[in-house]
Amino acid sequence: MEHATVVVSGTKIADEISSSRSEVWRLIQQLRGLGVDVAGHPATGYQLRSVPDLLLPEILRPLLRGTIFEAHLHHFYKIGSTNTAAMASAADGAPEGSVFLAEEQTAGRGRGANSWQSPRSTGIYCSVVLRPALPPSEVLVLSLAAGLAVQSAIQQVDSRLRADLKWPNDILIDGMKLCGILTEMNAEATRVRYIVVGIGINVNQATFPKDLPATSLRLVTGSEWSRVELTGALLKSLDREYRQLIEDSDARESILRRFAENSSWVYGKRVRIEENGSAFEGTTEGLDPRGFLQVRTAHGVQTVLSGTVRER
Ligand code: BTN
Repeated sequence: MEHATVVVSGTKIADEISSSRSEVWRLIQQLRGLGVDVAGHPATGYQLRSVPDLLLPEILRPLLRGTIFEAHLHHFYKIGSTNTAAMASAADGAPEGSVFLAEEQTAGRGRGANSWQSPRSTGIYCSVVLRPALPPSEVLVLSLAAGLAVQSAIQQVDSRLRADLKWPNDILIDGMKLCGILTEMNAEATRVRYIVVGIGINVNQATFPKDLPATSLRLVTGSEWSRVELTGALLKSLDREYRQLIEDSDARESILRRFAENSSWVYGKRVRIEENGSAFEGTTEGLDPRGFLQVRTAHGVQTVLSGTVRER
């Protein structure tokens, strides 16, 4: 990585990976097929034209020094779902801080039965394994903290952008979805065994299907973003939020307060809630101490436990 764009002969690469020049040629073709820009100089060898914006452990690790995410980074060019991989790996004992990143997901999952469009190398598809000593009832707060981490990472990279947090786990710009978070867990009644926080961010998509109210950072700002820089900022913010939550007894209150301050949805929004096949309408009136949304209706205040929130 320190001399990523020098020319290297096919023979040297073949020696280094204990293989043949024809195998090197085959692998280079495969990398090109994955979008890596490799020049071939007949007399001298192969050359990366630029360091690709790939979420490779070798590229990300230096950005994550001192975080819980530094040591166990897993990268896939193509995978079904990073959340599915992270849950399976956590069940097999993957340590806290394990990160699963993919260039492309073929079965990206959203909340409920939704899917998550995950085209190659345009978005960030990232799942992390956490093992907090928390009861399951506290996990929503952690999921809200992940939203704050995404919002803060975006702002660190471009301070002009103010993304809106939509309870519980969407991040919107101009009312269009920019990021979704899928938090899954394996727990006993009183104790979490492990949690996977899966984050999907639309970064460099140039278009979306007409019926999808979604946007990307590129569409909002008019220029391409470095996914590496944003992923580094995201995992650093997430590390900060998570450490505070498990180390500091006041962190929960701070997360709920900051979420409300950075969301146009928590107070005074006319909403329609669809939950378990039924629906009701009202005006949002804050979060309860566990992070659930409070909605004032004609019949008093109702607490939204899961459900879909839409603006009326
Ligand atoms: C939603 O808004 O419905 C949540 C979307 C979560 C998508 C991310 S992408 C990385 C991780 N892997 C998945 O299959 N889903 C999450």
